[in-house]
Amino acid sequence: MLRPLAGTFKPDDYPDLLVGLEPPDDAAVWKLDDSRALVLTTDFFTPVVDDPYDYGAIAAANSLSDIYAMGGKPFLALNIAALPPDLPPEIGAEIFRGGAEKAREAGVVIAGGHTVQDKEPKYGLVAIGFVDSVKMLTKSGAKVGDALVLTKPLGFGVTTTALKQERADPADVSEVVGWMIRLNEKTSQLALEFGVKAATDITGFSLMGHGLEMAKASGVGLKIEFSRLPFVSCAQKYARMGAFPGGAFDNKHFYSRDVKIDSKLDEASEMLLYDPQTSGGLLLSVPPANLSALIEKAAQIDQPAWVIGEVVSGSGIRIV
Ligand code: CO
Ligand code: CO
Repeated sequence: MLRPLAGTFKPDDYPDLLVGLEPPDDAAVWKLDDSRALVLTTDFFTPVVDDPYDYGAIAAANSLSDIYAMGGKPFLALNIAALPPDLPPEIGAEIFRGGAEKAREAGVVIAGGHTVQDKEPKYGLVAIGFVDSVKMLTKSGAKVGDALVLTKPLGFGVTTTALKQERADPADVSEVVGWMIRLNEKTSQLALEFGVKAATDITGFSLMGHGLEMAKASGVGLKIEFSRLPFVSCAQKYARMGAFPGGAFDNKHFYSRDVKIDSKLDEASEMLLYDPQTSGGLLLSVPPANLSALIEKAAQIDQPAWVIGEVVSGSGIRIV
């Protein structure tokens, strides 16, 4: 479907577009001068939780995440919303309030937006930020020997699907909401401080899909240790109930041919690798010399960071 874009816009005609038309990345980057660039992204989706305020906050955190995944600092945003005509106005107001307060926490002002009517609610942001084009984080900067660090646990998709099926425990939902509303801001700053060149955020295409994008863009392979992967406490429970969203099966269908699994993983555990995340963490490719300093600083600032594997030569993902 995106082919007409490639046919219409030739990268050579836009020398100031540093990231956009070439292999996929988290956000578009437009050069302003030798070091400063604008970073631009948009994202919106249907409700993942019942509480309208939390939904707005999650959608905003998720929209800003693509700017953090580039090492950028967002400052300005617009709302994009679709709301059912019969939705009580106070519900819509709570969605916008959740988004606005999350944006303000990030130092971002929401200066306007556009709303249409639609049967199913949709909400998100268009966001713009500044990035240092010399230090920016892309999917293509991973080097063999780098450590792979993940900054939020996995299992959000299976938990929010269990919620939609009315099978989720409220305590589990609040655990997952607590993660989804977290900004990836501190992680992005850590990455810049410790010389990380490659990062991406883990969202709808799962750890496997986004990991493969990074591997491909960098011309490397990823080796991930399953036992080191962080999961929310309820992930296995809902995985065993089979509460995976359709996107998990799509992800497995598209990506499994490039994923090799060494040990015999049970089916539920394997599916968790393909679980689509909403507002997931960043996957960082950390130069080995800076790893222990990054992990130490992360602990000091209360930012979880799990070492899950390493960048290896070759291609694809190997799960050991
Ligand atoms: Co992204
Ligand atoms: Co996105």
